[in-house]
Amino acid sequence: EGGNKPPAQKWSFSGPFGKFDRGAVQRGLKVYKEVCSSCHGLSFVAFRNLAEAGGPGYSVAQAAAFASEYKVKDGPNDQGEMFERPGRPADYFPSPFPNEQAARAANGGAFPPDLSLITKARSYGRGFPLFLIDFFTQYQEQGPDYVAAVLQGYEEKPPAGFNLPEGSFYNRYFPGHSIKMPKPLSDGQVTFDDGSPATVAQYAKDVTTFLMWAAEPHMEARKQLGLQVFVFLILLTVLLYFTKKKVWANAH
Ligand code: HEM
Repeated sequence: EGGNKPPAQKWSFSGPFGKFDRGAVQRGLKVYKEVCSSCHGLSFVAFRNLAEAGGPGYSVAQAAAFASEYKVKDGPNDQGEMFERPGRPADYFPSPFPNEQAARAANGGAFPPDLSLITKARSYGRGFPLFLIDFFTQYQEQGPDYVAAVLQGYEEKPPAGFNLPEGSFYNRYFPGHSIKMPKPLSDGQVTFDDGSPATVAQYAKDVTTFLMWAAEPHMEARKQLGLQVFVFLILLTVLLYFTKKKVWANAH
């Protein structure tokens, strides 16, 4: 049994002109850090990425300062010992658990997946020729729609007749409706310093935007290049048309 179809949201990164809303990416990073990171890793993202073009828009110094707030395992040193040190820009976000067994043990047997690619995980790209439709209908937004929906899809109690297993929670959008992630977000939990509302809806939207960037850090460059290619092809078509007219002008 599947979950309900997630409602389609408006995303800043949608469509051929889409860009990441910098404010949302920065707020989403804060939500990830203060809430999600206690259970979910983000192991494909390095702190230095936070200062890269097309991302949250931090300076190299800001990314380094952010990194230094983390403790990172390193070693062995000259004495053969492992040790902890403050994070550096080249480090990746540390994972909350040493391995999957430990993660499952802490979460009632369920595995909190790494979030680096989660916005892609439940969105399905389609092959030729349907990807042409996807291009115009923004099919790629399924993944973020799903993530934002799951975060907001909790129900205090399941509908009558639904048998919810011990240690699970009812979620309208999670496939099967029975999820082992406790409702992670509630109003007022994270403080934003830009005056954005401290609501579950805002947190869900922002953390999803952040995770979309994490999954596709070069999206803006990709879309920009795509547009340039289209412009070039249109110009080339026009030029070739007139060239053809000229070359064949005297053909009988
Ligand atoms: C599953 C995101 C916080 C534990 C998931 C899934 C998403 C997600 C999208 C579903 C993946 C799927 O469809 O298979 C997030 C985000 C969080 C957050 C964005 C922060 C806002 C937490 C926290 C915990 C947690 C704080 C631990 C207390 C889990 C577990 C699962 C899960 C155990 C697996 C559920 C199952 O398979 O039944 N999370 N999560 N998550 N999450 Fe979270």
